[in-house]
Amino acid sequence: MQWNSTLYDQKHDFVAKYGEGLLTFLPENPAQAILDLGCGTGTLTAQLAARGSRVVGVDSARTMVERAKVQYPELAFQVCDALSLPFEGEFDVVFSNAVFHWIADHDTLLENVRKALKPGGQLICEFGGAGNIAAVEQAFNRACEELELAVRAPRFNFPTPEEFSARLARHGLAPVQVYDYDRPTPLKDGEQGLANWMRQFFAGQLEALPEQTGQALLARAEELARPKLWDGGHWTADYRRLRAVARKPVK
Ligand code: BEZ
Repeated sequence: MQWNSTLYDQKHDFVAKYGEGLLTFLPENPAQAILDLGCGTGTLTAQLAARGSRVVGVDSARTMVERAKVQYPELAFQVCDALSLPFEGEFDVVFSNAVFHWIADHDTLLENVRKALKPGGQLICEFGGAGNIAAVEQAFNRACEELELAVRAPRFNFPTPEEFSARLARHGLAPVQVYDYDRPTPLKDGEQGLANWMRQFFAGQLEALPEQTGQALLARAEELARPKLWDGGHWTADYRRLRAVARKPVK
């Protein structure tokens, strides 16, 4: 999928806004080295820079990294896949907001995270938990079925806290706290909000369709989602987050 970095910053800046809550989990240590894993357009990386001595933002999407470099030329960004991180024992904190649900292979991901951390370092992350955006996905998939289209919503990785804790432990990262919570998320732009959201995050699916078919699909998905997600003034997406802090043992 090609990430649209402009749409992301204009309409979905809530991703970084909500991520600010996760910053409160960072240790107060001006000397710490921090990796922002899946940095997007760099909004949170810039805030992390005030909390450490070395901060590196990485993202697998070139479009996002290019925009991050333009917005924050003083910071270090690189295009890099979370499943092949080149870092070994370099970071006190690996920070990641709204990224892990895009990655099917959490085993390789957590191996890479453990390798990148210094002994005693911490993973601090938040992403979609079990049940995240269930109403959006159901509406989109039902609309695809009704219109007899072969596409479906992407397969996200939304684990339960129990599943993710067990996986952390298997990869040598001791869970400190792992929990999930509902975070209903109002979308910008009134009537357009849900269509904007699907255009951004289901871009790979929509790109495969002729423009008119895509529009019909979005319109039907909106109709199906309306009873649950529309309040007469704006759309609210049914986000559920999983938050985790885990530590690499000192020895
Ligand atoms: C999320 O942040 O939970 C999310 C965003 C886009 C698609 C799926 C999940």
